[in-house]
Amino acid sequence: MKKDNFKIAVFAGDGIGPEIMKEGLKILNVISEKKKIKLQIQEGLAGGCAYDKSGTPLPDASLKLAIKSDAVLLGAVGGPQWESLDYSVRPERALLGLRSNLGIYANLRPVVVFEELLNASPLKKSIVRGIDIMIVRELTGDVYFGKPRGVRKGKDGKRHGINTMAYSEDEIRRIAVRAFEIARTRKKNLTSVDKANILETMELWRDIVTQVGKKYPDVILKHMYVDNCALQLIRDPSQFDVIVTTNLFGDILSDEAAMLTGSIGMLPSASLGKKSALYEPIHGSAPDIAGKNIANPLAMILSVALMLRYSLSLPREAALIEKAVGETLKAGFRTKDIYQKNKKTVGTAEMGDAVAKNLRKLMI
Ligand code: IPM
Ligand code: MG
Repeated sequence: MKKDNFKIAVFAGDGIGPEIMKEGLKILNVISEKKKIKLQIQEGLAGGCAYDKSGTPLPDASLKLAIKSDAVLLGAVGGPQWESLDYSVRPERALLGLRSNLGIYANLRPVVVFEELLNASPLKKSIVRGIDIMIVRELTGDVYFGKPRGVRKGKDGKRHGINTMAYSEDEIRRIAVRAFEIARTRKKNLTSVDKANILETMELWRDIVTQVGKKYPDVILKHMYVDNCALQLIRDPSQFDVIVTTNLFGDILSDEAAMLTGSIGMLPSASLGKKSALYEPIHGSAPDIAGKNIANPLAMILSVALMLRYSLSLPREAALIEKAVGETLKAGFRTKDIYQKNKKTVGTAEMGDAVAKNLRKLMI
């Protein structure tokens, strides 16, 4: 879908959100200026900042803005000052509200190790070199949305908490189809991660993924239990090409996989539905380092690249952003989280400037 007038909703959010978003938009500006494309960027409030202003983390105006946009860019939401609020108005609800209302059920989290950051990973170079994994996380089902949920007083007078792991056949089928399609464009190797040895819902998951797999005989499908997958990601991550998994398992495994790259500050994500799409770094709002100009903006910048690839039909420019990030790392620029000896430690804004400068050069 290539348009002259692409509408992008921007929610910078809380914590480090505004700082990293500024760098993401810097990169987007270089693209629109060099490619001479018009982008209609409209900013809105979501998360704790929206709650402070209007008493709700996802005001109607923000949801409307997101729905009418072609794509949504999000920084991060949440922070300790909102942790004691009722669950229904916590900043994280904004994210979940956007995901469910936009119907963006497929969350793509690419885990790519930059050669320059091999030393930044806590794992041995020989284990992480060349890693290129695509985690496809289901995003609108599972315990995140399943009912019943809540904490209630039981007959024993004590509180009981309940959340429900729930998936319908259709929900499993559509995420499986996405994952097989993605695997087809890659090394044709798909690992479906579940807990079918203990949970009925996961037995259904395995059954449907296997069924879908019959239509993709060119893709090698393997099933793996989530506990084993957690282990294999550290033991031998290069065995993975595409991983498809549930909402909760995907949340956990993607944080784990992020560390293979050296820092969670490196991992972007794309959440895709039928019509809408949302792009955000996978790290949170990191309130402890907010406002200090030390956060790593690369996951945000790489999320902008994903937006160009999946929503703006600009795959070449997306690749150039990724290349510009690689070159910036090669030139020795490092934010604190990926600090290495003898490299140049820079702040959030300087890192963004350096990537923008390299991108400009690449786009001549
Ligand atoms: C993520 C985050 C979110 C999630 C939180 C902030 C609701 O951890 O995107 O991975 O659990 O999905
Ligand atoms: Mg997470």
